[in-house]
Amino acid sequence: MSNESLANLLKEERRFAPPADLAANANVTAEAYEQAAADRLGFWAEQARRLSWAKEPTKTLDWSNPPFAKWFEDGQLNVAYNCVDRHVEAGNGDRVAIHFEGEPGDSRSITYAELKDEVSRAANALLELGVRKGDRVAIYMPMIPETAIAMLASARIGAAHSVVFGGFSADALATRIKDADAKVVITADGGYRRGQPSALKPAVDDAVAKAAGTVEHVLVVRRTGQDVAFDAERDVWWDELVGRQSAEHTPEAFDAEHPLFILYTSGTTGKPKGILHTSGGYLTQTAYTHWAVFDLKPETDVYWCTADVGWVTGHSYIVYGPLANGATQVMYEGTPDTPHQGRFWEIVEKYRVSILYTAPTAIRTFMKWGDDIPAQFDLTSLRVLGSVGEPINPEAWVWYRKNIGADRTPVVDTWWQTETGAMMISPLPGVTETKPGSAQRPLPGISATVVDDEANEVPDGGGGYLVLTEPWPSMLRTIWGDDQRFLDTYWSRFEGKYFAGDGAKKDDDGDIWLLGRVDDVMLVSGHNISTTEVESALVSHPAVAEAAVVGAADDTTGQAIVAFVILRGSAAEDEKLVAELRDHVGATLGPIAKPKRVLPVAELPKTRSGKIMRRLLRDVAENRQLGDVTTLTDSTVMTLIQSKLPSSSSED
Ligand code: WT7
Repeated sequence: MSNESLANLLKEERRFAPPADLAANANVTAEAYEQAAADRLGFWAEQARRLSWAKEPTKTLDWSNPPFAKWFEDGQLNVAYNCVDRHVEAGNGDRVAIHFEGEPGDSRSITYAELKDEVSRAANALLELGVRKGDRVAIYMPMIPETAIAMLASARIGAAHSVVFGGFSADALATRIKDADAKVVITADGGYRRGQPSALKPAVDDAVAKAAGTVEHVLVVRRTGQDVAFDAERDVWWDELVGRQSAEHTPEAFDAEHPLFILYTSGTTGKPKGILHTSGGYLTQTAYTHWAVFDLKPETDVYWCTADVGWVTGHSYIVYGPLANGATQVMYEGTPDTPHQGRFWEIVEKYRVSILYTAPTAIRTFMKWGDDIPAQFDLTSLRVLGSVGEPINPEAWVWYRKNIGADRTPVVDTWWQTETGAMMISPLPGVTETKPGSAQRPLPGISATVVDDEANEVPDGGGGYLVLTEPWPSMLRTIWGDDQRFLDTYWSRFEGKYFAGDGAKKDDDGDIWLLGRVDDVMLVSGHNISTTEVESALVSHPAVAEAAVVGAADDTTGQAIVAFVILRGSAAEDEKLVAELRDHVGATLGPIAKPKRVLPVAELPKTRSGKIMRRLLRDVAENRQLGDVTTLTDSTVMTLIQSKLPSSSSED
């Protein structure tokens, strides 16, 4: 992206100061930024002391062989002990760790003392199955407490887990089992999704056959009671094996750099990358950020992250960060519209949730369903709202604050990635005057900036690429089995800096705005235009709930802007509205950003983690054969969109 980019045309003037009561009692004050800037490593060494170490580290960072980092190298700890046992030892065994809410309406609350017993039993069960320190365990599960227990049990015995999202196919699971050479797979007889029991075990059977020879045992949790094929030699029921184990297990301390987990990210090309995270640095940064960014008060808060444990958000902000902090949290198995569109708000009301962490795609869906739905529930317990996963359009941000947060709660837009392991750029709720749509500033101890093509830092008001300029404790250590790909993907674009793959700009105050993946930036008549900004301009029109924008090849302008929009409940889809939307973008961002076509659609193609697949929309806009649709949540969406194309376009 060049500096002539339109990055600054979307002006956002709204500002929200932290609520006075929150600011007065906030975990973190503005001094944290200064303290960390004055002594970054000292700051992280201090944060590491929030963990319980079997052997305290004396070294903070070894960066002698960049980009291969070692954090707290001579320290030793057990991650599961930190997430479970130490809270029991501190007298908090009766505190609820997880309020589980099943989709069919069943619920169960698990205290830290109960969690300690369950994790210990599961750890003993894995040992009985032959799993040892240094092995890998694949986890392919629905959103139930046993998923977290399985992860903690693996961590407890020093085996790295590789969680594979339960919506992935048998092929995807097989590739990941093979790449990580997993010895055991932990799965379930199914889970509940949109009122139906879904199957998982058939995909495991298929995947284990495809990954011939690697998997020795499959451990199966009973969740739905469905009949499943059972291999008497290989398969074991969780309730039988785990149920008969002792609840005593003495955790062993492992090196800070001992592998904790591998999590695969798909990316647009090539085989999935196994992102490797290790123990001490990862747990330090997830615990610190969960405490700082959500202003967590473990004695009184009820925290809820709506992500699936299959994604990094679930790893860092359902399992490791919250449990390391001794938080009480809600875990929900199902979808937001089962059995009705108020399900999330009913859960907030039921458990008096005080901190909610969700994704822009969910927020825009709630906008589309209408303000009257959350209005029917008591949401007064909420005090901090978080967003993650994609740039949040300013209008969606304001809707979230107003309709969910009663115009009172801070919204923290947290930027990070599977690779960064933990939050990197985010407001602090008791400190930052927030701006809708901007993640704003790197957190204390984090160094991020925006550079141009030549790696020069852009001035305030400029646009370019987001880079991380100093190592951070929860950084990925490599790509599993492929150091060269680690170097090529992240460290070769800009010398000595981590390239995140995201476009970004700095506003006049120096605050950072994320503009989406650089692959998605459009080039129109020689101008770089970010898809995110055109989408935000569209969503700022009252008739639009959600928008996806792509650049389609165009003979005159190089690329032309094509917008796909989902209208809000009551808006009528006609040519007048399409013209109005084009003009609205022109008026907001300038004539160059006016979409050539605006196409109202019923749904947008999304990955299973909720990101819009612009690549497929580009195929449609350019009348091409669709590319790979296997990671789509719902492949019929594309047929619907294609059928819309000829009639509803509008051209100058
Ligand atoms: C990519 C990473 C972070 C956990 C979930 C996604 C985008 C993430 C934001 C945000 C703008 C964001 C970026 C990033 N992204 N959070 N707050 N604002 N963009 O993890 O699947 O590894 O995806 O998600 O493009 O690079 P992931």
